[in-house]
Amino acid sequence: MEQKRYGHFDDQHREYVITDPQTPWPWINYLGNEDFFSLISNTAGGYSFYKDAKFRRITRYRYNNVPMDNGGRYFYIKDGDTVWNPGWKPCKTPLDFYECRHGMSYTRIMGRKNGVEASVLFFVPLKKWAEVQKLTLKNESKEVKQLKLFSFEEWCLWNAATDMENFQRNFSTGEVEIEGSTIYHKTEYRERRNHYAFYHVNAPIQGFDTDRETFVGLYNEFADPQAVMEGKPRNSHAHGWSPIASHYIEVTLQPGESKDFVFLLGYIENEQDEKFEAPQVINKKKAHALIAELDTTEKVDKAFAALCEYWDALLNIYKVKTGNDKLDRMVNIWNQYQCMVTFNFSRSASFFESGVGRGMGFRDSNQDLVGFVHQIPPRARQRIIDIASTQFPDGGCYHQYQPLTKRGNNDIGGGFNDDPCWLIFGTVAYIKETGDFSILDEMVPFDNQPGTEVTLFEHLKISMDHVIKNLGPHMLPLIGRADWNDCLNLNCFSWDPNESFQTTENVSEGTKAESLMIAGLFVVTGKDYVALCKKIGKADEAARMQQAVDAMIEAVKKHGWDGEWYLRAYDFYGRKIGSNECEEAKIFIESQGWCTMAEIGAEDGMVAKSLDSCKKYLECEHGMVLNNPAFTKYIYEYGEISSYPEGYKENAGIFCHNNPWVIIGECIAGRGNDAWSHYAKILPSYVEEKYQTLHKVEPYVNCQMVAGKDAFKPGEGKNSWLTGTAAWMWYTVSEFILGIKPDYDGIRIDPCLPETASDYTVCRKFREAEYEITIHPNGAQKGVRSITLDGQPVNGTVIPYSAGKHVVEVTM
Ligand code: BGC
Ligand code: NOJ
Repeated sequence: MEQKRYGHFDDQHREYVITDPQTPWPWINYLGNEDFFSLISNTAGGYSFYKDAKFRRITRYRYNNVPMDNGGRYFYIKDGDTVWNPGWKPCKTPLDFYECRHGMSYTRIMGRKNGVEASVLFFVPLKKWAEVQKLTLKNESKEVKQLKLFSFEEWCLWNAATDMENFQRNFSTGEVEIEGSTIYHKTEYRERRNHYAFYHVNAPIQGFDTDRETFVGLYNEFADPQAVMEGKPRNSHAHGWSPIASHYIEVTLQPGESKDFVFLLGYIENEQDEKFEAPQVINKKKAHALIAELDTTEKVDKAFAALCEYWDALLNIYKVKTGNDKLDRMVNIWNQYQCMVTFNFSRSASFFESGVGRGMGFRDSNQDLVGFVHQIPPRARQRIIDIASTQFPDGGCYHQYQPLTKRGNNDIGGGFNDDPCWLIFGTVAYIKETGDFSILDEMVPFDNQPGTEVTLFEHLKISMDHVIKNLGPHMLPLIGRADWNDCLNLNCFSWDPNESFQTTENVSEGTKAESLMIAGLFVVTGKDYVALCKKIGKADEAARMQQAVDAMIEAVKKHGWDGEWYLRAYDFYGRKIGSNECEEAKIFIESQGWCTMAEIGAEDGMVAKSLDSCKKYLECEHGMVLNNPAFTKYIYEYGEISSYPEGYKENAGIFCHNNPWVIIGECIAGRGNDAWSHYAKILPSYVEEKYQTLHKVEPYVNCQMVAGKDAFKPGEGKNSWLTGTAAWMWYTVSEFILGIKPDYDGIRIDPCLPETASDYTVCRKFREAEYEITIHPNGAQKGVRSITLDGQPVNGTVIPYSAGKHVVEVTM
């Protein structure tokens, strides 16, 4: 039987085309590239915010609602007695045709009903604080069409957290203004806010509504708002309750005629002394100016063309041609796109992250960096400075910070002992890409306190030292609250369901809990740090750290090896975790990944054995699980990891993020066939069919977790979009599989491929140079035999950097 499909890739347009609105889960996209952002589902659900999904939420969205994905920007078209939406929802009137095209920072949704075609292009123009919704209505019938068009947005009262809970206040604060075809949302503007939002349309309106209850009806739904069903706007003016914005337009279309309407959802900030133009009347000058920039089809089309050019340029920096469409489309389009989204959103706002819980993660953002540093180095630079500014003088750091204020988040605090190492990981990636060593001299404060500034290099140094100063009885790194695995809480010891696993540390005094994951991470980043020190002439510091790295390697070989794989940790009492001696969870993936990347004990066969054990115990049909066997009961010495049912999340889920660690380990070991087979299992385009029914989440991006082999429903995907998987998949394929590695003095060529790989070409822009690199694998999995640069032989595997266009031939 033919499997049901909901969509397909359109590589030429860099789009994923959804052809059935009833996807197994809302399949979303992201709009916006800098300050103003929106989430949009394939039925136009979602919301917008300015910079911070918690503190500046512009439109309201209800998570985990019934029905799913309730709320968004909706256009209701009333054609006689039929009311429908171009994106099918919320009315769910069956359409004659439906299509949603998610592209690079834009989404186009089209519906047809009874001879009318409605197509909406959604995007956030570059450098603008607004979402454009260009609606085109076309009469494809032979009769004149008299349509009643209603737009709809619901305002969020700015703070998305209190918006959901503080109703005793919220129901009395809402305020709006209406001027011509623009509806202004000005709740709390009278007091401390200096920002408001507006919803505009570039056409005269014949009515409007701003009060939700009046428009929808207290016991109606978005599917049957009473104003729409009756075809009559109420011209309501909201005072308190729930302010909305709805325009009403009467549209007459001759046969064959089409009309455009540009709707604009904008955000404005005013200076304190320029807030009002008259008592109680907001100063609309900036709003008028913004509207004037985007009030015709021509202007909007130009802004859209500029956005497309922006994406062309971003995606032109690394381009591969292997002849394998499935690989090429992930490398050239979707993987890079997902990396930019994780850069912009960290883990804050998706259809699984409510936007109120988490800001930017310290470790998350450093890892995201390797996914986009080649595209926008200046913003990567700024990101590194922002992250480092939340560090403490002892090298520890805030686990998260708020994007709006860039301040460390006190609710979660610090104490995650892997965090400092990631700063080295991110900074080294930045310098290798750009050659910009000056970043190391940048003065960066601690905890954002003016007057505490030291150089960024000093921050790197104290980051390394933080590990060295926090070693346990086996001379392995103390884990603190947790390492990369937020759920391995070895000092938490909680029997109280009202305590947070993330922030509770009941027994840190005298702890012996140590992490082999941090040990491996320390060796990998330590080697990078040593190389960097040598590069900038700090030989003593290089020697000092080399000793620490060597000592760590010895400690792992002595206390971190279990016979067939690396241990995962020692618990509070100094007992082994992730050992054959354990009853459950005998092996974990994180330490296999990091210790093989660090090549610890390679000479003694440890790396090969560890990688083999991953294949034997962790691998399953959908990828490698995090640990095996899964925990079947709660172990209070271990914390949240054992709180998850078997096969989900950190308890033996396929946590896609750390599969690439093992894949890189395979690449470093030169095992190209194995690396590729692991990679292909979690490469979305390779398993696109599985996404349609089993994984359920968006087939064009990686998700954080696929239910593992021990789960009730193995293969189900969750937590799509915002995951470190994006950057790690990119890093893996671009640098380790295809083998194009930026280095201080040029590009290192070191592919690791399956034997079946054919010749391929990578076009790589690098600083002021452009390389066209063709690789001839000749059936080899690893090992570059010779390289020529513009016809001349190159010594070694690094193509020395020089500006201009170059042609490189590589024979393996
Ligand atoms: C999740 C982790 C996440 C942590 C912090 C846990 O419940 O399983 O993936 O990192 O919460 O938000
Ligand atoms: C998701 C978090 O964002 C990340 O920081 C963490 O490492 C993983 N979960 C694993 O727990």
